[in-house]
Amino acid sequence: MSKRKILVTSALPYANGSIHLGHLVEYIQTDIWVRFQKMRGHTVHYVCADDTHGTPIMLRAEKEGITPEALIARVHSEHFGDFTGFHIQFDNYYSTHSPETRHFSEDIYGKLKSAGLIAVRGIEQLYDPVKNMFLPDRFVKGECPKCGAKDQYGDSCEVCGAAYAPTELKNPYSAVSGAKPVNKSSEHYFFSLSDARCADFLRQWACDGDHLQPEAANKMREWVGEAGENKLSDWDISRDAPYFGFEIPGAAGKYFYVWLDAPIGYMGSFKNLCEREKIQFDDYWQPQSDAELYHFIGKDILYFHALFWPAMLKNAGYRTPTKIFAHGFLTVNGEKMSKSRGTFITAESYLKQGLNPEWLRYYYAAKLNSTLEDIDLNLDDFVARVNSDLVGKFINIASRCAGFITKRFDGKLVEGEQYRALQTMVDEHFASWRPEAIEQAFEAREFSTAIRQVMKFADEANEMIHHLAPWEIAKQPDRTDDLHRACSLGIQLFYLLARYLKPILPGTVQQIEAFLNCEPLTWPQLRADQPVSALLLPAGHAINPYQHLMTRIDNKQIDALIAANTQSLTAPPPQSPARHAEKQQHAVAPIAETISIDDFSKIDLRIAKIVNAEHVQGAEKLLKLTLDIGSEQRTVFAGIKSAYDPEQLKGRLTVMVANLAPRQMKFGLSEGMVLAAGGGNPGELFILSPDSGAQPGMRVK
Ligand code: MSP
Ligand code: ZN
Repeated sequence: MSKRKILVTSALPYANGSIHLGHLVEYIQTDIWVRFQKMRGHTVHYVCADDTHGTPIMLRAEKEGITPEALIARVHSEHFGDFTGFHIQFDNYYSTHSPETRHFSEDIYGKLKSAGLIAVRGIEQLYDPVKNMFLPDRFVKGECPKCGAKDQYGDSCEVCGAAYAPTELKNPYSAVSGAKPVNKSSEHYFFSLSDARCADFLRQWACDGDHLQPEAANKMREWVGEAGENKLSDWDISRDAPYFGFEIPGAAGKYFYVWLDAPIGYMGSFKNLCEREKIQFDDYWQPQSDAELYHFIGKDILYFHALFWPAMLKNAGYRTPTKIFAHGFLTVNGEKMSKSRGTFITAESYLKQGLNPEWLRYYYAAKLNSTLEDIDLNLDDFVARVNSDLVGKFINIASRCAGFITKRFDGKLVEGEQYRALQTMVDEHFASWRPEAIEQAFEAREFSTAIRQVMKFADEANEMIHHLAPWEIAKQPDRTDDLHRACSLGIQLFYLLARYLKPILPGTVQQIEAFLNCEPLTWPQLRADQPVSALLLPAGHAINPYQHLMTRIDNKQIDALIAANTQSLTAPPPQSPARHAEKQQHAVAPIAETISIDDFSKIDLRIAKIVNAEHVQGAEKLLKLTLDIGSEQRTVFAGIKSAYDPEQLKGRLTVMVANLAPRQMKFGLSEGMVLAAGGGNPGELFILSPDSGAQPGMRVK
């Protein structure tokens, strides 16, 4: 078999959220396929990165009070930790905020521009006049134009499902500042997808069934339309400042839209790997490349990968993807993941609760196929399947036989005559069994089929052992040879099976290799003339003592996982520093109703000098202040005792409301009010001070 050169990617997760079990469908699927190809001896590079640009990330960082660079650095290490925890083995996990990605973004843009495929046009968009920024659809909210539901996003209604333009919302407001957005025009850059060089190319590339799954190609036929139909519209690839991303060369204040540089991040990550490992980048990306390029993605981002991306590559003089592999979405117990039901499960919480990541890898594999169908994580089925198949059928083969080999036979499997008898048993029993079916299923991403084949083999192995019943023979002193052969058979069959599960259970199989004292398992090439027994360990092979390989799932662990992910209003989950910062931001009281300047000017604020401050007999919260406002002195009872010592206050300047109606209090008449911030908790109270130079009696406006 000739050695293939394969470059594989998974979609780049956004750098503003945690990895959850939905994401893991994709990364586990890709990782299994990559490990399988590597086991077969092909040259495979698996690259990914964080998708770091765009408005949500910019605003998130601002909210946390940190720079976008600091945010994406933190999230990068979180994501990488989660992936490592699930045995996702990238050859490079990089970032789109990288010099390489910038280079290729500029390069591809430049080539498209030279080819006359970039157009500049003015467009009108909603603009936040307070925050001074254009608002992406998701940052405009208002009432649904169809059903009137309140607080709906600018692109679609979550109540009635209607899709619309943000300008159609009733009573729109900016989700960033709360301000009423205004229409504002600005020049945008467009990639001319409607140009025949794109449309004709895509009509063939995306629709001919060579590069996409049948369902995906059907969708493309709908989107691209027939020749002459002109269904494709040009793609807006620029965003105005403020934006976190790459500035467009020669267009000050204009940035590449995040979806322009995101797929280019695949190239950027690979380029970075090439530099490190001395791989020829061009071998993989030039138009005549004989390397294969595969993108694993979710069905929600097909449009970007099957239309924009190949059209960009083609017209910029690069190779196009060999195939796009789209998968469906994860549901948990048949429903969309939900924070209130506790089924929006983060990768981190799964690992933290001590659940074995390989349980999930196995379960997903058992469910995955090559279509775009959604896959369901049914938690009861998850427990049952892992316990009965993985532990009960697979691990059990070894745990039932290994002890005897160690205790009674010094760790050695049968040899000589006995070994030949064992070979015969295997060849007779598995005469019609061929590993090619499993191999083909893996290649075609029909993992559920592959697992079914492996488990069928495991069933037969268990049956053979059950029939031989080593635990019974062990009680009969004259049947030592039979016991040795039966247990050796079990270990040999376990060895045979383990390799087919290695792409799925890399950690466990590594332990198995140590236990069986064998070389790292690769994908075997069984020639047509070779019997199955050609795949066995050699005669007289010595194994190591069996050590526990995998536990069963306890239902309690699932309950704890759900509890840990359930967001209730009464008991918020323990907060990371980031979440804490977010909460503090949320604790800021909403801005009051708008008033006119006339309303404001009714309030007479004056600089006041605190000439005296004293405790008030019997008052818990109040201090009695004597304030000089130039023209007169006032007495004010202020609720600041918890935060200030009267002695500290004497001689200070502050600000008071001078025209507030006097109020008779238990301790005397209060002739105004001093201004202070805070007041939630004891000690968290701050009176105002003017800059030096201000004089008592000056008006504050
Ligand atoms: N940043 C973009 C991808 C850019 S690729 C150049 C993005 N990020 S994402 O974080 O939202 O999603 C990353 C991948 O995870 C996508 O392929 C997406 O389809 C997949 N999934 C996210 N949630 C998922 C489920 N609930 N179920 C299955 N896959 C899911 O999209
Ligand atoms: Zn609606």
